[in-house]
Amino acid sequence: MAKKFRERFKTLNDVFDQFTIRNLFVLSSKDHFVDGTMSPLSIGKEANIFTAAAKDGDSRIVIKIYRLETCDFNKMYSYLALDPRYTNLKKKKREVIFAWCQREFRNLMACREAGVRAPLPLAFLKNILVMTQVGEDSPAQKMKDDVPKQPQKFFAEIIGEMKKLYRYGYTHSDLSKFNILNLDQRPVLIDFSQMLPMNAPHAYEYLKRDVENVADFFRRLGVKIDNEKVYKEIVAVGTKKV
Ligand SMILES: Nc1ncnc2c1ncn2[C@@H]1O[C@H](COP(=O)(O)OP(=O)(O)OP(=O)(O)O)[C@@H](O)[C@H]1O
Ligand SMILES: [Mg+2]
Repeated sequence: MAKKFRERFKTLNDVFDQFTIRNLFVLSSKDHFVDGTMSPLSIGKEANIFTAAAKDGDSRIVIKIYRLETCDFNKMYSYLALDPRYTNLKKKKREVIFAWCQREFRNLMACREAGVRAPLPLAFLKNILVMTQVGEDSPAQKMKDDVPKQPQKFFAEIIGEMKKLYRYGYTHSDLSKFNILNLDQRPVLIDFSQMLPMNAPHAYEYLKRDVENVADFFRRLGVKIDNEKVYKEIVAVGTKKV
């Protein structure tokens, strides 16, 4: 690995191990982003998020890196165990984190197939996920920080996205004002690490909770919402078998 590259990552952020730095190098050399352009965007419970310049033209990409040392892999394992796609997963720390990251990539692919407004997944490698940035020059803000100007319309659009996802056989399972971005007054859903197929145990409870969390935010903005009615409306579109 090029020494210069390693040094650049060291100065950028000290939290990553050699394994992760090596894999970032692999991803950048496979043309996913321009080496040396990463800048930090957010530090979450489990992952650090960076933006970087894409190699093809002037668009920007987002890199989500799950921290190998400090993420709660027991919690990840218990969530993965609910997902029929991951029933054979062994409870080994690294394997669990890699499966978690792979699942988020697969979930984003499913969103693309379902026509849901979400980032486009570009690549994943071990604990690193690469996707398009929502927002052209700078990343779009969360709807809690950039409050929709037409709440009723914005809420209706989110429900429309939830219906598409449900129709395709999934529920986001962590939907809230934190995981919906406001892109030019239209919603884009993000953070698909917990998305579940509807044949997973409790999937309908998660769907109900998603409705409640989103509705809470919009009710405070004056939108009149009957949670039960919205939930029934989503379920009424029917779901395909996954
Ligand atoms: N594709 C994207 N485009 C623009 N901004 C993004 C994108 N992905 C993430 N972000 C920004 O980074 C923040 C954190 O991302 P995300 O919600 O995926 O991670 P997190 O909440 O830290 O995840 P986890 O709970 O899994 O640790 C988001 O709230 C959003 O502001
Ligand atoms: Mg989030």
